[in-house]
Amino acid sequence: MDNTKNLKRPPKGWDRSGLPGWTYHSSALLDLEIEMFKTHWQVACHISDIPNIGNFKTFDLCGERAIILRDTNFDVKAFHNICRHRGSRLVTKDQGTCKNALICPFHGWVYNLDGTLRGASQPKSFPPLDKNEFSLRTVEHEIWNGFVFVRFKKGPQPSVKELLNKYEAEASGYKMSEQIPTDGFWTETSPVNWKSIRDVDNEGYHVAMAHPALQDLYGSNYYDESYKDGISRSEGKFTASKGRHWGVRNYKKFSKPHKDLPKESNQTWVYYGIFPNSVIAMTPETSLFYQEFPISTDKSIIRSATYKYPNEDRQQKVARYLASRIDRETVVEDKQLTIWSNESMVSDAFDGFYLSDLEYGVRTYHDHLRAILPIYNIQKTPKESDIRDLNKSLIDNRYQ
Ligand code: FES
Ligand SMILES: [Fe+2]
Repeated sequence: MDNTKNLKRPPKGWDRSGLPGWTYHSSALLDLEIEMFKTHWQVACHISDIPNIGNFKTFDLCGERAIILRDTNFDVKAFHNICRHRGSRLVTKDQGTCKNALICPFHGWVYNLDGTLRGASQPKSFPPLDKNEFSLRTVEHEIWNGFVFVRFKKGPQPSVKELLNKYEAEASGYKMSEQIPTDGFWTETSPVNWKSIRDVDNEGYHVAMAHPALQDLYGSNYYDESYKDGISRSEGKFTASKGRHWGVRNYKKFSKPHKDLPKESNQTWVYYGIFPNSVIAMTPETSLFYQEFPISTDKSIIRSATYKYPNEDRQQKVARYLASRIDRETVVEDKQLTIWSNESMVSDAFDGFYLSDLEYGVRTYHDHLRAILPIYNIQKTPKESDIRDLNKSLIDNRYQ
């Protein structure tokens, strides 16, 4: 089970250690990480989740909440899901349709779909209200190949288009903006620090041992470009073997070249990692995204959705079903790995990671984290009350 044949060797003498254990259970650090999440692009949904005027999808992230909706001009808009009166959620469902207005469930203020205030209930109880001044606050958003990204606060990343530019030619071949939802959103809570999920996802070394189906599908052909400028790319070209695993054997049989896809994109699964916590993946039958968010230092949410071609035929449908079975199996296996990895972080006997060349992606991802929050470089557990100031002084020192 040697998966090194496509490996581009990392620089000689690279530092094979990971982040110090304390960073996986520090509440003060989590506060800084949450700020990082808010200043980075997040995948909120796909345009096909809100195909008609008035359709909305909500997206909550560490205390922030957005509504992504289709307005009367058919444009996609993103607003904070916060009423301008006293801050109530305007829509309480995860997904739905508002006829031609958003009506706050608290006291009944009404907003147009373009976010302007249509009116307060019992307006005589207020001085005259400026409809624009009391508009819903917008959330920055950008659509990339059908996926709607939002960013709650300005941050260090460029636009999503610029961020993913080097893969634009490949991504556009999949025509993902024409795809439609399969079976809605999937969310799950996991009893681990969010970074343990990312650590497992950022390397293919564990595939040979822990993912029999993926190993059977593409194991020795797996190849990745580690994180650089906030993006990573991994691909698994199907191996020539028929497949021993029932699902893989049948998937390889049914997955046929998609007529719109270039030859090199068929028989391949491709994953784009988008710093800090999202992945968009493509197979010949589907595209999907997944991401994780912290709830606390030892609890995270994983959120995901899958999209398909609107004109899929029966064979593609079967292949998509089989692909999703392989994927589901992988998710269950990964969940266990994240638990085993995370629980070691509180043991005094754990000496930290010693990474393989096949885990260089973990290192480059951690380098990205360290670039944003240099406190990750501190090996000895700092006092919780010192973490914020210490991080700030490390940033300030960079510029001296
Ligand atoms: S909080 Fe929305 S109407 Fe009062
Ligand atoms: Fe995995």
